Amino acid sequence: MARIFITGSADGLGQLSANALIKLGHQVVLHARSEERAQHALKQVPGAEDVLIADLSSIEETKALASKANALGIFDVVIHNAGVYQVPRNSVGAEGLPTILAVNSLAPYILTCLMHKPERLIYLSSGMHLQGDPGLDNLPADIHSRGNHVTYSDTKLHDVILSMAVARRYKSIFSNAVDPGWVPTRMGGAGAPDNLEKGFETQVWLAVSNDPKACVSGQYFHHKRHAHYLPAADDVAVQEKFLVRCKQITQVGFDEEKA
Ligand SMILES: NC(=O)c1ccc[n+]([C@@H]2O[C@H](COP(=O)([O-])OP(=O)(O)OC[C@H]3O[C@@H](n4cnc5c(N)ncnc54)[C@H](OP(=O)(O)O)[C@@H]3O)[C@@H](O)[C@H]2O)c1
Repeated sequence: MARIFITGSADGLGQLSANALIKLGHQVVLHARSEERAQHALKQVPGAEDVLIADLSSIEETKALASKANALGIFDVVIHNAGVYQVPRNSVGAEGLPTILAVNSLAPYILTCLMHKPERLIYLSSGMHLQGDPGLDNLPADIHSRGNHVTYSDTKLHDVILSMAVARRYKSIFSNAVDPGWVPTRMGGAGAPDNLEKGFETQVWLAVSNDPKACVSGQYFHHKRHAHYLPAADDVAVQEKFLVRCKQITQVGFDEEKA
């Protein structure tokens, strides 16, 4: 039995992955943005071990989430699933950073750095990452500068870059990225053309399967198969630039781990 932490599990693919993993006999800790959403998550995922609360648009709340997760012990698997797509262009979190950047890019970075290292890490990306900027020019220089407009595509490229950087730096961890397809969750919308079931089965498989095809690292998957991703994500210089910039913004170092 594996112990799994899933961010953004009050709804959508996070909630579906959580239920699927519990059905397979695994132990799952949920995450939600608020007390109200936490109660909703627990109701929707009966059998969950616990739920942790943090609004990931806040850098400080995300750091505190890492401490709360560490207080529960070591997880075998962490699924970085929480994400936002359509937020008002000027939406910002507690520290004034763009919400889409804080939730989609910085939260996975901070949690990766500060949580005890699991055996497997899964990062939810998107086929839209192909339109992201590999020059990373839209990332702000630090927490005080606003930077350029960061797009959803940029953030989903960040997730692939982070996943590949972890795979390169931590040889003992299986770190992979997933494009779940365009599926009918709240984010995908009712008219999304892809199969909802296929939207979470890859994460579940990567999390707990002993299939040699799932026990790999530094890969990008779509529907349990390797898929094309932007080659820049494998570029060590791009990865290092991303890690340095994230450290400048969050004041959290990549090799740091908080007890
Ligand atoms: N659906 C698609 O077609 C599609 C396609 C490609 C990639 N993806 C990726 O798949 C992942 C899951 O997407 P989904 O379709 O399941 O989306 P969803 O139904 O909108 O669910 C997103 C989850 O993230 C949580 N979340 C958002 N902002 C948060 C914040 N500030 N703090 C804490 N939690 C927050 C949400 O909490 P609340 O419910 O409280 O808002 C929700 O649980 C995302 O990373 C997304 O980018 C989805």
